[in-house]
Amino acid sequence: MAVLDQLTSQQAIDLEDKYGAHNYHPLPVVLSKGEGVYVWDVEGKKYYDFLSAYSAVNQGHCHPKIVGAMVNQAQNLTLTSRAFYNDMLGRYEKFATEYFGFDKLLPMNTGAEAVETALKLCRKWAYEVKGIEENEAQIIVCKNNFHGRTTTIISFSNDPVARKNFGPFTNGFIKIEYDNLKALEEALENNKNVAGFMAEPIQGEAGVYVPSEGYLAAAKALCEKHNVLFIADEVQTGIARTGKLLAVNHEDVQPDILILGKALSGGAYPVSAVLANDNIMNVIKPGNHGSTFGGNPVAAAVAIAALEVVEEEKLAENAERLGKIFREELGKFAEKNDLVTLVRGKGLLNAVVINDSEESDTAWNICMSLRDNGLLAKPTHGNIIRFAPPLVMNEEELRDCISIIKRTISEYEK
Ligand SMILES: Cc1ncc(COP(=O)(O)O)c(C=O)c1O
Repeated sequence: MAVLDQLTSQQAIDLEDKYGAHNYHPLPVVLSKGEGVYVWDVEGKKYYDFLSAYSAVNQGHCHPKIVGAMVNQAQNLTLTSRAFYNDMLGRYEKFATEYFGFDKLLPMNTGAEAVETALKLCRKWAYEVKGIEENEAQIIVCKNNFHGRTTTIISFSNDPVARKNFGPFTNGFIKIEYDNLKALEEALENNKNVAGFMAEPIQGEAGVYVPSEGYLAAAKALCEKHNVLFIADEVQTGIARTGKLLAVNHEDVQPDILILGKALSGGAYPVSAVLANDNIMNVIKPGNHGSTFGGNPVAAAVAIAALEVVEEEKLAENAERLGKIFREELGKFAEKNDLVTLVRGKGLLNAVVINDSEESDTAWNICMSLRDNGLLAKPTHGNIIRFAPPLVMNEEELRDCISIIKRTISEYEK
């Protein structure tokens, strides 16, 4: 078989199984094409995408404006490294900082890299501006967080599968309950060396846990009181997903450090970023941090186009409106259906909790049946299914999807 011969789904799965590391457990579907809210498998079957590559494809698959910007830039200049200037990075930095309301942006590629960047920035600020003694800085994080996969990031994860046999871990983190202001207040009062508090405005990977109303604003106020940086990891929740440009905007919070990734490129290219004002970002000097690909001209062109699409197509407004319909319809369904315990979320980041144990395979089996019925979704934790379609979906498509979901789950009622 030549490398580029057309494959069947099974052949593609077998190749990954034999030649790839087994670090994922994908749903058995092999995709070869995407457009808007749809993807197609290698046999030509069409599906609604209800995962959006973990909220990266907010602007829809292969958005023509984003792909056009990428192709156009790729034909001119792809990479200079930061050893030289390129004519796209500054334009992107100006555009994105004005877009999100910060003085400066530090460009990276993946979400985990941006989180690492934010942690380094926070520590450096703590030593050089706040005046914490060297190597003593602490950063408060939340239990059940998901911020990525690097050694430092898994150091403050409490997922045993993500951590086991990857130690020794990085010190300097205090873990508290999510959505618990008292725990935050205590941690701030009992530790004089706290530099920052990092949180996801909604815990996505943990199962779309939406904190109590007012939590983010009160957490930010506590941080201000203690001269501690509020770091918002909006890699999954950001860029219109939850019905506002940023999830923190629901509570009018401006983080001190903002972490973005995923939909910053509309899923076309790995683009992530950390944004902060000058009083924080100016602690970073040449040689302190960087990345060969971070800030490359293709990423810059793609990100500008991706952010323009969000505004031009009013994706936040659409996510807000369709999200309400989704939760209302599935909420009514949950009241009558024993298998669905709960529907929760904001905008088009939602989860359905299946009435079974975390260890059960019910949610997985439902996702397999959803696949057979033309809709792709994936369990996050054993019994929770996340539903996060591209934000370019229209109401008719959403209602079609809601009926597929209801019909499929009903098949599982005993
Ligand atoms: C909140 C959050 N932060 C960071 C990451 C890591 O991003 P990446 O997979 O691009 O490294 C993710 C990925 O799901 C995420 O949800």
